[in-house]
Amino acid sequence: MLTNSIQLIPASRFTVEQLTAIYNQTRIDYLVPMPMNARRLQEYITAYDVSLEHSLVAMQGEDLLGVAMLGIRKNRTWITRLGVLPNIRRGGVGQALMTGLLENTARLGISFIMLEVIKNNIPAHQLFLKLGFREVGELLILRRPPVLTPTEPVIADAQRLEDDDARRLIRRGRGTMPWTNQSETFFNIQDVCGLTVTLPDDSRGWLVYQRQKFTLTRFAYQTESGNPVHVAQAFLSHLHSQYPRLDTHLENIQINDPHLPAFYAMGYVESFRRIEMWLGDPPPE
Ligand SMILES: CC(C)(COP(=O)(O)OP(=O)(O)OC[C@H]1O[C@@H](n2cnc3c(N)ncnc32)[C@H](O)[C@@H]1OP(=O)(O)O)[C@@H](O)C(=O)NCCC(=O)NCCS
Repeated sequence: MLTNSIQLIPASRFTVEQLTAIYNQTRIDYLVPMPMNARRLQEYITAYDVSLEHSLVAMQGEDLLGVAMLGIRKNRTWITRLGVLPNIRRGGVGQALMTGLLENTARLGISFIMLEVIKNNIPAHQLFLKLGFREVGELLILRRPPVLTPTEPVIADAQRLEDDDARRLIRRGRGTMPWTNQSETFFNIQDVCGLTVTLPDDSRGWLVYQRQKFTLTRFAYQTESGNPVHVAQAFLSHLHSQYPRLDTHLENIQINDPHLPAFYAMGYVESFRRIEMWLGDPPPE
């Protein structure tokens, strides 16, 4: 057991470059390769309200052994970026990091903790079950490559919105979304756009998304009335006819999302799945 000699240090005592390096070292053998650079890690920290003061690095002497980060929002926290160097796994470091984040959450007076784990990541899944997390759902990571044949927009009245006008669409009442897709994220990021659609049969809905240079990403959407599949067909067809050359990456779409058939019909494919796990109960909205 390593646990007697390890120290847990607040991640705020390290530079983002140091945190990026230790994160990447813990993920060299990861199921889905996701290397980070310092700029992307900083964007991640900002977008997802990660508190480095409440995040932890595990050390033994001068050596960095692992890392785990904590996102903090009203009445809830989120565990992310957990990793331990491959050569010292099964020595208790992962559990020590997790226990440290649970204690930091309790110290904040918060009793609801969320996380996601890639499906079939047995070590992490077992660790979370051991600490009392329960499975609450399954999430899809979807991708749509640009297509050569132009997308025909469905007949609908479509209105484009920018920045705060788009953000205003994301109101309450969306349920407990996975952390990445919660409303707060859209207030933390740049290049937010929106689209409202009204169909001839009066079905109505909206989509809010982030437009990056080569990629459309981070979707929030809702059907306000009518059939969700028809509403999604309308907003997706208008979106993709507007940006025919952009790739689209979506994460953490719930498998029971009623809009999904429209995504598949529009050429979205599944990349992989995550299991959503909670400890405690979500606060009322
Ligand atoms: C998941 C991870 C952080 C666990 O770290 P670790 O230091 O090896 O874990 P610990 O030694 O503290 O193990 C604690 C518990 O986790 C579970 N566990 C850890 N490794 C396991 C394995 N290979 N198989 C099954 N269960 C495992 C067990 O429940 C274990 O308790 P036990 O020792 O009483 O059986 C580590 O495997 C890792 O860095 N993996 C790659 C990155 C990753 O998957 N991160 C999580 C993303 S959600």
